[in-house]
Amino acid sequence: MSTAPPTSTRRSRRTPTAPAGARRRRRWVRLLALVGAALLALVALAAVALTAVWVRADLDTTSRVEFTSPLAIPPLADSRIDPQGWRVFDLNLRPGSTDFGLGRPTPTWGVNGPYLGPTLRAAHGEQILVNVTNGVGESTSLHWHGMHLPARMDGGMHQPVAPGGTWSPTWTVDQPAATLWYHPHLHGETAEHVYRGLAGMFILDDPDSRALDLPDTYGVDDLPVIVQDKAFTDAAELDDGAPVFSPVGFLGDTVVVNGTIGPFRDVTTDRVRLRLLNASNARTYNFGVHDNRPMALIGTDGGLLPAPVNLTRVRLSPGERAEVVVTMRPGEEAVLRSYPTDLRTDFFQQRFAGGDDTLDVLALRAADVLLPSPPLPARLAADTGPRESEATTTRTFDLRGTDINDRDLDPTRIDEVVTVGDTEIWEVTNTGGSPHSFHVHDVQFRVVSIDGREPPPALRGPKDTVYAEPDATLRLAMTFRDYTDPDFPYMFHCHLLLHEDAGMMGQFVVVRPGEQPGASVGVGHQHGG
Ligand code: C2O
Ligand code: CU
Ligand code: CU
Repeated sequence: MSTAPPTSTRRSRRTPTAPAGARRRRRWVRLLALVGAALLALVALAAVALTAVWVRADLDTTSRVEFTSPLAIPPLADSRIDPQGWRVFDLNLRPGSTDFGLGRPTPTWGVNGPYLGPTLRAAHGEQILVNVTNGVGESTSLHWHGMHLPARMDGGMHQPVAPGGTWSPTWTVDQPAATLWYHPHLHGETAEHVYRGLAGMFILDDPDSRALDLPDTYGVDDLPVIVQDKAFTDAAELDDGAPVFSPVGFLGDTVVVNGTIGPFRDVTTDRVRLRLLNASNARTYNFGVHDNRPMALIGTDGGLLPAPVNLTRVRLSPGERAEVVVTMRPGEEAVLRSYPTDLRTDFFQQRFAGGDDTLDVLALRAADVLLPSPPLPARLAADTGPRESEATTTRTFDLRGTDINDRDLDPTRIDEVVTVGDTEIWEVTNTGGSPHSFHVHDVQFRVVSIDGREPPPALRGPKDTVYAEPDATLRLAMTFRDYTDPDFPYMFHCHLLLHEDAGMMGQFVVVRPGEQPGASVGVGHQHGG
């Protein structure tokens, strides 16, 4: 800069005597200007492209979904009581083809059908036996998400089912009424297997829940609502390509409910109970009704709340469930929608993780005359959740990247050894800045606090999965009541399936006091085949 004046003076003095040099210089100036302009154009183009990606990343299907297809209701699974008194279900996992109304059928996987599976239903105290037969042509597994049962019956990656094989876990239902679900859990394959269609609901009842005056006629005033987002190719095939910049993995532009695109459901009662299940790979939904009417939240992942809570929004990250009761007016249409939600990440990830999206989900169409439903009971279930004061151990979990406590899953390593009977605090901190959801097998936990504050009402019931906001610490209280096994671990992991498959998972065993974890951990054997 400081040498500029002399240089320019010298140049201007030379100009008249060196016309060829001046032309050369002018050519250089022109060239530089051209290069500059080209660079500017490139930057502008990149900005436009980025803006286009940015703008397009914000999905809004409000009033753009035509609700023209009747909502599919997964059938209740057939079962029989065998001579030993077990309630036996047969589940056949198999490929199929599904008509999503796209002009041609879509290759999918399903359980006892082409897409998703039947709803299993059982009561507290019942002995369950499920024959899981794998007809999909590659190894998979079936995990009972939210179920309290022995680790070797859990259906995780240590219970793979070989192609053609059958796995027959048995257990006794020993937990309160709840909306649980089942899905594959083979390490590295979970996202793909769930996305293709292997998943279903598992409803538990108990004597108290049956005695309550809640809407409970399955498929009539008690509806399973399994929400997933999909993308389809022009050939109507499932497209599982993750959008650019997504920190969470796959996000689809098409919502399917129970496998139905653009679903409507005729409602004949003035209250309808929705069992909401987020069975999506990565998307977090923030459910509400189009006119912001309050929904009565009656249950969370692991069971009923002590009392209904009126809310206008219920947020569910992948794996979470909520039971809500919606009150209808005769002749109206109420649209269940997913609204933008603050994922508490930076603005860039917020957008590319779907936090800014608005999605129409399901239309409920009320008949002109509605059967009256009894008012909601004021008390629903006893609050028997573990208390922080009972805890004898605190463990900390740091979520960052796709690591938990700086480690990837190692199927041969036991990360935590828990003594049976103990109540523990699991302190989970998302230090990585990206969205995660934290799930623990075997137990239902209570969210004691989030960053020292009482959790919102929607997180005060029994939970097995919870959204882990960036830069926040969750304190979870859980009791490990029974089912010791030093050799077979349970899992804890992020329920964003891309992260889970990438190894954002750890293992714990429940042992008798003083017992050591077994040496043969992780040497899972294939069932059948
Ligand atoms: Cu829903 Cu370990 O899974
Ligand atoms: Cu699970
Ligand atoms: Cu995650």
